[in-house]
Amino acid sequence: MVQRYRFEPLFLLEGARRVRDAVRMPVGYLGGVLSLEHADSLIAEGFAFVQLGRATIRDPDFVNNLASGKVSVSDCDHCNRCVAAMSADGVECVSP
Ligand SMILES: Cc1cc2nc3c(=O)[nH]c(=O)nc-3n(C[C@H](O)[C@H](O)[C@H](O)COP(=O)(O)O)c2cc1C
Repeated sequence: MVQRYRFEPLFLLEGARRVRDAVRMPVGYLGGVLSLEHADSLIAEGFAFVQLGRATIRDPDFVNNLASGKVSVSDCDHCNRCVAAMSADGVECVSP
């Protein structure tokens, strides 16, 4: 049901930059953010904030764990099975 899509970190960056540079309002970045290094570089280049999807589905404490230094990179494997498994009860990581 869920196809495999090639994954690259920050896979929406080029398009997000074009949007950010074309509008006069704060723009956040979303797509393939996996580490504090990613988040810091996005803020440094002018995004107003950074959002994380699958990394926080994999580990709901991911941001706190980044901040404390417990982890440095998400171990989400981008299988996208959380998309197929989500229901009215919510969404969770179903990867081993
Ligand atoms: C479980 C799940 C549900 C999603 N549902 C939607 C949706 O309804 N509409 C949408 O535009 N994007 C949806 N997305 C895509 C996310 O908004 C986001 O673009 C994508 O996960 C990339 O960010 P990430 O690499 O941090 O996960 C969904 C993603 C996941 C993992």
